[in-house]
Amino acid sequence: MNWWRDFADHVEPDAPLGRLTWFRLGGKARYLYRPREVGELSRFMERARAENLPVKVLGAGANVLIRDDGFDGVVVRLDQEAFRRIKREDSRVAAGAGVDLMNLSRRCSEQGLAGLEGLAGIPASVGGAIRMNAGGRSGEIGDVVSSVTVLSPEGEVEEWLRDRVGFAYRHTDIGEEVVLGAKLQLRADNPSLVRRRYDELFACKQKSQPLADKSAGCIFKNPPGQSAGALIDRAGLKGKNCGAARVSERHANFIVAYKGATASDVLRLIDLVRDRVRLAFATELEVEIDIW
Ligand code: EPU
Repeated sequence: MNWWRDFADHVEPDAPLGRLTWFRLGGKARYLYRPREVGELSRFMERARAENLPVKVLGAGANVLIRDDGFDGVVVRLDQEAFRRIKREDSRVAAGAGVDLMNLSRRCSEQGLAGLEGLAGIPASVGGAIRMNAGGRSGEIGDVVSSVTVLSPEGEVEEWLRDRVGFAYRHTDIGEEVVLGAKLQLRADNPSLVRRRYDELFACKQKSQPLADKSAGCIFKNPPGQSAGALIDRAGLKGKNCGAARVSERHANFIVAYKGATASDVLRLIDLVRDRVRLAFATELEVEIDIW
């Protein structure tokens, strides 16, 4: 009998992953696992390790590209109730890894809790946002995190204070640990002012980014002191395509997948953009998205 049958109600073998990503691209996972609670997740991880199965956690799927041949391992999704709780105490908010960040930032803004409005319009789960320190010009999630709860590879639940997390530009020191949730320190402010800042930032994003298209947000990190979008634009690459993947006309650091696109179209286009920018400006672009 297969070991995973002990968790059978929550495991889907041969699970298509594209539907769980914003790109809507990519193959299948050997197993998709949606744990009910932390203890069960911990036992599952132990078994997966004993079977030598690689494990990855998928959040909102907003910053990943899954290859066409899929992922030969376990994909964990923390979308059950136990991982989606939000608790507020004064201006402190504890949120589970499976909480929708857009929802959280809008709700906090409505309640006059300032600090997350800079993340307006960033599609992510709290776990994914923490893992990569999601953000933009108006702030990063790391700015308001006081601690992060993780499940260690050894199966222990640990609380990491912010310094240990090592927040940097689209980076943290979280490795094989699974983010379970985070405590955020926000600021009480006038609800209508916070809400106005939120609305302004959201409108600005909608104007400058192709939010309704199938993409993974910005593809490349901004090189120090430069803007990847501006470099790609100046290299004349807006509208450039490989198959049905195309550099966005609205924001050159976005690649949009049109009908019929494959993950390998996107990967070829990423290589092409990198080569052209290197040639034109002697600048090496580093991919910001996670490629599985
Ligand atoms: N620009 C162009 N052409 C373009 C796009 C941008 O010339 O096609 C120019 C803009 O005019 C501006 C500069 O490049 O002068 C910077 O552009 P923008 O203000 O759009 O910001 P960005 O640096 O490209 C960053 C984050 C975004 C985040 C925005 C807004 C990175 C890689 N990107 O973009 O994050 O939404 O700031 O806060 O850090 C993401 O991480 O997925 C993402 C979209």
